[in-house]
Amino acid sequence: MDLFDRRKEYARGRLEREDLNPCPYAQFENWMQQAESCELEEPNAMCLATVDASGHPSTRIVLLKQFSKSNGLVFFTNYESCKAKAMDATGKVAANFLWLPLQRQINITGTVARISSAQSLKYFLSRPLANRLGAWTSPQSKVISSRQLLESKWHEMKRKFSNGSVPLPDFWGGYAIQPKSFEFWQGRPSRLHDRFIYRLQENSNWLIERLAP
Ligand SMILES: Cc1cc2nc3c(=O)[nH]c(=O)nc-3n(C[C@H](O)[C@H](O)[C@H](O)COP(=O)(O)O)c2cc1C
Repeated sequence: MDLFDRRKEYARGRLEREDLNPCPYAQFENWMQQAESCELEEPNAMCLATVDASGHPSTRIVLLKQFSKSNGLVFFTNYESCKAKAMDATGKVAANFLWLPLQRQINITGTVARISSAQSLKYFLSRPLANRLGAWTSPQSKVISSRQLLESKWHEMKRKFSNGSVPLPDFWGGYAIQPKSFEFWQGRPSRLHDRFIYRLQENSNWLIERLAP
């Protein structure tokens, strides 16, 4: 199979230096709000890249659940998963948001660390019961012999927590990314896309530069 003829022109918008908010978090919020108002499916889904202790990269999608200048970009996962082991080993990640209907992507690089269990608990308690039970059920990233194993564990957890009070598992919680760079990308015709990168400087200011597409 070749996909040589599968191509689209990107002509929905443009991005100019004067359009950019000096603060990348405000710029990110602005684009996220636009993505939300277009009713894109899961605009908060990001492709999270990690590198394991031997330097091997891997990626997967996770959902951004909160972001702010003070707390960074927060998402939740199993602390014994592949990604968690990689993040705990290196403390570094990259993330990509792809919003094709807007012909936009955002690339973020930064450091990552676990959030406090009090913060994780706050989010965990806001989740629907089924999702809380799901966290207890799945040994994320481990090999399992069958689907049935998962389903019997699910029933076991349902019985175990039948009073409806499901505590935060100690193997589950949030991570916060503290960005060192944000790149905002807008597709343009003839593959001459607009790209601007914000890089965090030692004096904590953000340097904004245009990149070639
Ligand atoms: C749209 C979407 C959202 C997802 N959100 C999460 C999430 O927030 N947290 C999570 O741990 N996994 C999430 N997953 C599952 C992950 O992509 C991945 O399969 C899982 O976390 C195991 O990854 P790992 O083995 O690399 O650690 C999501 C998958 C999709 C497709």
